[in-house]
Amino acid sequence: MPKSDSIFVCQSCGAIHPKWLGKCEACGSWNTLQEEGVRAAPGALAAPVGAKRGKAAAFVDLIGEAHSVPRLKTGIAEFDRVCGGGLVPASALLVGGDPGVGKSTLLLQAAAGAARGGATVAYVTGEEAEAQIQDRARRLGVAQAPVKLAAETDLRKVLDGLKALRPDLVVVDSIQTLWSDGIESAPGTVTQVRACAHELARFAKKSGACVLLVGHVTKDGQIAGPRVVEHLVDAVVYFEGERGLPYRILRAVKNRFGPTDEIGVFEMGETGLMETPNPSALFLGGGGERPSGSAVFAGVEGTRPLLVEVQALAAPAAYGTARRAAVGADSARLAMILAVLETRCGLSFAGRDVYLSIAGGLRITEPAADLAVAAALASALADVPLDADGVIFGEIALSGEIRPVGRTELRLKEAQKLGFKTAYAPRREGAADKAGSREKGGVRVREIAHISDLAALATAPAEGRRR
Ligand code: TYD
Ligand code: MG
Repeated sequence: MPKSDSIFVCQSCGAIHPKWLGKCEACGSWNTLQEEGVRAAPGALAAPVGAKRGKAAAFVDLIGEAHSVPRLKTGIAEFDRVCGGGLVPASALLVGGDPGVGKSTLLLQAAAGAARGGATVAYVTGEEAEAQIQDRARRLGVAQAPVKLAAETDLRKVLDGLKALRPDLVVVDSIQTLWSDGIESAPGTVTQVRACAHELARFAKKSGACVLLVGHVTKDGQIAGPRVVEHLVDAVVYFEGERGLPYRILRAVKNRFGPTDEIGVFEMGETGLMETPNPSALFLGGGGERPSGSAVFAGVEGTRPLLVEVQALAAPAAYGTARRAAVGADSARLAMILAVLETRCGLSFAGRDVYLSIAGGLRITEPAADLAVAAALASALADVPLDADGVIFGEIALSGEIRPVGRTELRLKEAQKLGFKTAYAPRREGAADKAGSREKGGVRVREIAHISDLAALATAPAEGRRR
């Protein structure tokens, strides 16, 4: 029998249940309930109820003095930009990512950069021994930077040490390894993670330090002790990377002090993470010519912009019935786009096996991918490569008309960030009848009103089409 003062907390969504269940009733996850002590509460280090309390809250006017606290620069331009132009004093930032993606490397480099800039920097590790961090610092060539290092997991000791050191920047790697003795649950449980993050965010607010928390992402892409931590901090960035590929992307998903559609691109090398001045080269194999049948789709995944290569092949069919196969895209959608191309543009895929593949093992569900798929198919059929500097997006109607899609600004911004010059996009709603061309934040937008306009681009002779 469980202890009568126990509660069961879902480690995925944080819901509290009075008894153990195989499935969380709140979020539907299986086997995520874990027994935790009821003494657990955010702010457990605060004075207990009934103890002498301080002064009542003081209220001030909305129009205060203009504070222009300078931001703390880490010297890693991509990192500073994703944070909205440097780190904000008295704030907490969560850096999430898969184990092994390079969070510790990034934050050690950032800590060293800030320390070299004159800031007092503390690096608290609960994951590795001091010697391991020192080794890594030597390998990264930052061992000379005046960063203060401590291997500690006891939150109370960490906070006492920080109060004595009075740092400008604190890195805590990781939030899942910390534990507070005011809480009965094991380290890494939702309750512990929430309490520790809460205390550290409070420390940031009180002391004026900027606190960077590392959070591991669980297999389903959530930071363990998930939404609860995201709500406690001022900014959340994710560090992502494909296995086997050297590039890493840092994305802001929440930022109280800056935009959330910024990305930073790094390359993991022998001496740590290097900033990537021309990321499109990494994504698209040199950025020069692309083969026929390849189109770059400017997509949006959830709230995140994502450029994806769409590949198509139209091979002569060996047998009577031609094959149509799609990997990473819906085959019904492929059939529809083929039918529209045949009917509205007079292209014939009869006697051809048609294959469609989304690079990088991604799965595309957005209708906005239609136009990129159509362009890849037309390009494959004509064996003419598409504009190597262009991205494509738009939904295709059965009539062949191109419908507008949402988040245009986000797509264009990502395209510009990754070095693309042109976007083939639907006409803006309410715009004049004639499709035109406009300039938007460094990207030329070629408006496509009907699918036949796009097919013409893909089949025109390469020389005439370029620039
Ligand atoms: P790490 O920062 O420890 O990842 P995390 O903290 O997110 O778990 O980085 C782990 C990987 O990075 C590891 O597989 C080795 C690789 N790496 C390099 O390729 N070059 C380097 O200079 C360093 C320090 C790590
Ligand atoms: Mg690490």
